[in-house]
This record gives sequence, structure tokens and C-alpha cells, in this order.
Amino acid sequence: MNNRNLAGAVPDVALKPRYLPFVDGKFTASSDEVFPAVNPATGEHLADLTRGNSRDIDAAVAAATAAFPSWAATRVEERCAMLLKLADALEGDAERLALIDSLDIGRRVFETTIDHTIAVGQFRFFAAAAVTHSGWNRSIPGGWALAKREPYGVCGQIIPWNVPAIMTAFKIAPALAAGNTVVLKPDENASLSTMELCAHVAEIFPPGVVNVVPGFGEEAGAALTAHPGVAKLAFTGSSEVGRLVSHAGAERLVPVTLELGGKSPNIVFPDVQDLDALVDNVAFAATYCNGQSCLAGTRLFVHDDVYDRFLGKLVEAFRRMKVGSPLDPATTISCLVSGEQGEKVLGYVDIGRNEGAELLVGGNRVAVPGNEHGWFVEPTLFAVDNQMRIAQEEIFGPVLSVLRWNDFDTMIAEANDVRYGLAAGLYTNDLANAMRAADALQAGSVWVNQYFNMVDGSPFGGHKESGIGSELCAETLNMYTHLKSVTLAAQLPQPFYLPPAA
Ligand code: NAI
Ligand code: MG
Repeated sequence: MNNRNLAGAVPDVALKPRYLPFVDGKFTASSDEVFPAVNPATGEHLADLTRGNSRDIDAAVAAATAAFPSWAATRVEERCAMLLKLADALEGDAERLALIDSLDIGRRVFETTIDHTIAVGQFRFFAAAAVTHSGWNRSIPGGWALAKREPYGVCGQIIPWNVPAIMTAFKIAPALAAGNTVVLKPDENASLSTMELCAHVAEIFPPGVVNVVPGFGEEAGAALTAHPGVAKLAFTGSSEVGRLVSHAGAERLVPVTLELGGKSPNIVFPDVQDLDALVDNVAFAATYCNGQSCLAGTRLFVHDDVYDRFLGKLVEAFRRMKVGSPLDPATTISCLVSGEQGEKVLGYVDIGRNEGAELLVGGNRVAVPGNEHGWFVEPTLFAVDNQMRIAQEEIFGPVLSVLRWNDFDTMIAEANDVRYGLAAGLYTNDLANAMRAADALQAGSVWVNQYFNMVDGSPFGGHKESGIGSELCAETLNMYTHLKSVTLAAQLPQPFYLPPAA
């Protein structure tokens, strides 16, 4: 298989005509209702997916509940061996799965291939981390005090469409490694590669340990978050739905982890020498995933001393980026996930113009031959004030806002003056500046002289309204377990409480 397909022939990725929920190790549905998986670039119908409903969720939770006791009792080494097998199987199938994601969500193959590499890494990381994950202990006179880490039970997990392979791995890997069972609902715009993953899961894991129900948020998603059999919720997506999931958790008093939006600052200090490398990284930070990434560096703070020189190069680079088919290897910017997302992004371009932001380059929809259905948006650069909506709200498209700075403290205050706090980047050779900024930035991840470097094991999660909890790291296993303290004595204490018998 390769990524040619410039002539428009559909690559053979062996899609099934119809995907049923994966429940108790089998593909089975409670109804014949379906919704289509559509190629957002061409409008081509790729497959049908069962429109999962509350009965499918009930069946999935029942299967996960039945599977839980023996899964939790399985030695961690055995559970982790299965995760490693899954990693191998996914790695062997990665080329096909990456192409499926490109067809399903319009991102270029170069990117979806990276997604699958990261996903495989997650299964391996959590397989390794779980073996050494433990509670606490201490000896006390005549015994021991110890704390075990125990899995919650059935985890309800809901993921978005932008990086489906990564999201599936971020959710499933730590939950299973820690001894939980899972019911996962993929996004209605991006379910195919997750449904394909189920075929590998079926070969490796006992039935009921992993269950996946495709469907809509208000239907299958809401049924999952409200289900009394679910002991832990995890969600990635918009802040609006994150609040709903949080409410659902509060209603039943189950823990919720949330990974929500971002509007991350990316900061250029005046001492940076290699402006060409900088332009490349800044463009990558803002437009990777066509900007449809929660941690995109979408507020660029450029120091006065280099502003004009740097901006000239950045505008030129934005003009140079090729907007094209997801399957064309020469493409830099491809197709947004849906017409809804396309209209949202162009709506923000209008908002920016109307609120007086200066459009430096881009701002238009592009027609890509053979992909007329798609929403392709030029990489877009605005000079803004920090208070403008396009500087404050998550756009989720290739739109970068630039701000000029002079004074360190004022710049940091502006960088932090946003409701989100997911990530931040900064570029400098001055160690003191880097350390000062990294300390002062309100963000869950800070990258210095790079962006988007998700090292397996480094915590990834949001401060402020960007979320609750951390993924990608050993701490994640804590979020998929609760503590049980057990205090042991070798023998009964001498009576000390009651008055002596008469
Ligand atoms: P969304 O938050 O509506 O969808 C994410 C997931 O939540 C999907 O699986 C969806 O089916 C599910 N969902 C929706 N309503 C639900 C409900 N009532 N109960 C349970 N689950 C529900 O995101 P959407 O509408 O696709 O995108 C809107 C905006 O959200 C984007 O423009 C972007 O700004 C942001 N977003 C952020 C993401 C992130 O990674 N933090 C990912 C996707 C979107
Ligand atoms: Mg939505």
C-alpha cells in the first residue's frame, strides 16, 4: 500500500460495509439503525456504523461488569503481556489504519501515521508502567500499614475525532493496565480505526474487557455517562461537553477526568538565532492537524526586536504551505473534519476581521480538485489584541493569532490571561528566561525550543479550564485506581478500651 491515489482511486483499506458495536468480544447490535462514515474531503460514503443507543450501552456495561472480577484478578504481568501483543498487532496494521484515519477525517497520511506510532507507544508505556505501579506501605509496631491500588471497575470513556488513534490508546491503555474494564464511545466523525482496533482486541483479550459502542454524543454518549454501572468517567473533547460529563459524574459521585480545549501561547524571545527553524516549528505548532488540536500553539507572542523580520518569514511560509488532498504527500494543510467545523473556522475569520484584527495572510476556503466536498482552509495569520475573541477562543482550524511583546512580565500576564491552560511553547537560548517563563506559565505542558513533543511518560493534562487529571504518564494509573488502606497486626492488642471487668 502507498499514498499515491492522486488520481482519486480509493485505496483498498479493507473496510467492512458495516460496523457493529463490539460487545463481550463480539460484533453485535441492538438495532439496525446506522449512520454513515463519510470521507470529508470527497463526500464518499466509506461504511455504515451502528447508531449505538442506550440498549447497546446497557449490553456493553453488562459485559464489562461481568468481565471485571477476573480481569482485575489477572496478574498484572499477564494483563501487560496482552497490551504488548495489542501494540505489536497495531504496529503491524499501522499503515492501513493510518490510511483509514486519513480517509475518515481528512488529515494527511504523514500525520495519521504519527498518530498510530504514538498510540502503539502508549500501549507499551502502560504495559511497562503498570508492572511497577503500587500503593504505599510502612511498618508499624506489631504489624504493617499498607495501601493497595485497586481498579475502579467499568470505565466509561468518550473521545473526540481529531486524533482517534491517540485518543483510543490514551483511554484504553492505562485503564486496562490498571485492571479496569472499558466501555468506549468513539466520535461520530471518526470511529473507523477504533472499530478496526476491536478486531485485534478480539484476538487477544478476554471477552468483555474492552467494549466499543459507536454512536452520537447525546445518545450513546449520554447513556454511558449516566449509566449506574460505570464507576469512572474519562472524556476528551470540548469544554461544553466536558461540563456535561462532569455533571453526570457528580450526579452519581463517580470520578471524572477531563481533557478539554486549549488556546496555548507560543513565545519567541529576542535572542533566537535560527529564524528559519523557528518559522518551521511555529507553523508546525499552530497548523499540525490542520489546527484541530487541543494543544495547538495558537497565540504567538513575538518579541519586538525580531517581530518584523520574523513575521515576514512566517507570512512567506504560510503562503508556501500547500493546501491539498489528504492523500497527496506534498500536502501540508488538508481537510477539516466536517462542514460544521469548516463553517466554525471561517466564522472565526469573519469575527477576527470584524473585531479589527489585521489579516496578514490566508483566511479563505480553498477548492481542491477531486475533493470539492471538503473544507480546506488556508493557513491564516492575524495580528491581534489579546482581548479579541480570536485570541481567546478555541478555533480548531489553521488560524494563528500573533501578538508583539516587549516587557517580560506584561507578556507573561497576557499569555496567562485566557481561560485555558493546556500547553505553552517558548524559544530562547537564555536558560534564565526559559526557567522563569516555564515557572510563570499557567499550563500543563511547557516545551522549550520545540513544540508538541509528547514524550511517553511525561504528564499531559490541562490547568484551568483545560481539564482535570493527567494522561500519558505513570500518574494516570493513579487516576484509574483508588486506594485501599489495609492495616495488619500479628495479634489482637491487649484490652485497653473498656473499664476492667468487676
Ligand atoms: P464534542 O465535545 O461535542 O465531542 C467530543 C465527544 O463527546 C464525541 O465523542 C461526542 O459524541 C461526545 N459527546 C457530545 N455530546 C455529548 C453528551 N451530551 N454526552 C456525552 N458525550 C457527548 O466536540 P465537537 O462538537 O466535535 O467539537 C466542537 C469543538 O470542541 C471543536 O471545535 C473544538 O474547539 C473542541 N474540541 C476539542 C477537542 C480536544 O481535544 N480537547 C477535541 C474535539 C473538539
Ligand atoms: Mg458536539
